[in-house]
Amino acid sequence: MLIRKLLIHERPLFVAHLKRLTPSDRRFRFAQVHVSDEVIGRYVAGIHVDDLILGCFTDEHLVGAVHVAFAGDLAEVGVSVDPDHRAQGIGAELFQRAARWARNRHAERLYTLCQTDNRAMIALAVKLGMKIHRESGTAEAFLVLAPPDLLTVSDELSVGMHTVFRDWADVMRTCRGMWLPGRS
Ligand SMILES: CC(C)(COP(=O)(O)OP(=O)(O)OC[C@H]1O[C@@H](n2cnc3c(N)ncnc32)[C@H](O)[C@@H]1OP(=O)(O)O)[C@@H](O)C(=O)NCCC(=O)NCCS
Repeated sequence: MLIRKLLIHERPLFVAHLKRLTPSDRRFRFAQVHVSDEVIGRYVAGIHVDDLILGCFTDEHLVGAVHVAFAGDLAEVGVSVDPDHRAQGIGAELFQRAARWARNRHAERLYTLCQTDNRAMIALAVKLGMKIHRESGTAEAFLVLAPPDLLTVSDELSVGMHTVFRDWADVMRTCRGMWLPGRS
């Protein structure tokens, strides 16, 4: 499993992942009913370039993602995992990574909005130490974030380096096929 930033040109993978969610998962993910494919397309198209989207890949497939949107000192998080990859710790890992990288951007609080009947997300929020305020069908979960430290910064840097080296290895493989005719 590899967790890394999704690049702008990879956003269609995020759209496809969200469209794989069932109607009830979509209600949980977006805290609203009747989330159509068009709503998902508009949501991803409207994501600000400075927002963070982290993807979880297994065997090169995107199986989970977290979107972090920044508003002042607040980082709002929305997370989802493909149904056949749940209960393997991916949601928790994405959330923790999002929290660390939000600290690197000097966010002071992490926030997520969920439905009160979203047992999985509420259990996940409690597990991560979030404070939960329930009100008429919705629950707001908050986590106070510490300032960045060497660990949060090196975590992000090492993932970035891994991505650069992987891209470099791909380019070298392509070039090898060009330099040595008959090999690919
Ligand atoms: C919420 C969601 C992201 C969890 O992803 P996941 O990869 O299955 O979560 P994890 O495997 O990391 O589980 C982390 C913790 O969440 C809790 N949890 C996960 N699934 C649960 C379930 N079905 N019922 C109760 N608790 C659950 C557990 O406490 C678990 O910790 P544990 O394994 O130590 O007991 C996933 O269910 C999902 O995509 N749901 C639809 C979209 C959504 O609701 N998003 C959240 C709103 S922003």
